[in-house]
Amino acid sequence: MRPTIIVGNWKMHTTRTEAANLAAAINDCLHTRTLAPNDRIILCPPFPFLEVVQQQISHAQLFLGAQNLYPGDAGAYTGEVSAPMLRSVGCQYVIVGHSERRKIFGETNNLINAKLKAARQHGLTPILCVGETWEERCANQTETVIAHQLSEGLADIEAGTSPAFCIAYEPVWAIGTGHAATPEQAQVVHRFIRQWIAAQYGDPFADELPILYGGSVNPSNAAALLSQPDIDGALVGGASLKADSFCAIIDAG
Ligand code: PGA
Repeated sequence: MRPTIIVGNWKMHTTRTEAANLAAAINDCLHTRTLAPNDRIILCPPFPFLEVVQQQISHAQLFLGAQNLYPGDAGAYTGEVSAPMLRSVGCQYVIVGHSERRKIFGETNNLINAKLKAARQHGLTPILCVGETWEERCANQTETVIAHQLSEGLADIEAGTSPAFCIAYEPVWAIGTGHAATPEQAQVVHRFIRQWIAAQYGDPFADELPILYGGSVNPSNAAALLSQPDIDGALVGGASLKADSFCAIIDAG
């Protein structure tokens, strides 16, 4: 059985003190819960607060992740952060190809592919985000768009040790809008992603691959989303910024 993975993507929110307090509150709340043995909770704070968040983590199933990385190891890349740097502050996961990075910062599938390779080369598990816009959905392009993001994003990526990466399906129209995909809408796309992965990597790998849903997940809709057969977790933005709501989503898993 696949584990449940709940990721908090704090985006460009929190101060240093707020980040430490939020991480400590989530860590405390996990100590009062009994999670299934392989379930994982991942916190992705802004870069400057990675270390202070890591210092709050004592629960064995709570991990540190970053929101982005640059594919080079080191060098003249002003403002960028590399995989070895992330590893050195305790990161084990990294979000790659979030739709905000694609849209606002012009990230291409090729760059995202390079980031995935750099992450894996340095022992970070990448969480590859894919998803369609509302216009693409209305034009019945959802599967075409996602297949394209997967084939270019995962180009030359070997399966390796399983699971070598995670996928997050994040419909762009659901992110930060308060309008999550329905569980049925999300399940259809998650099933499509798993079938696409099975065709490329084989059934055993696809069966173990965690596929997370992201886009307006909150304590009220989490249980229904997470009960779908191909939804293995959640990538949570706004609702991850309060310990109460994030822990309620964990409880729904
Ligand atoms: P949201 O963000 O939960 O605020 O919609 C999700 C995400 O962008 O990862």
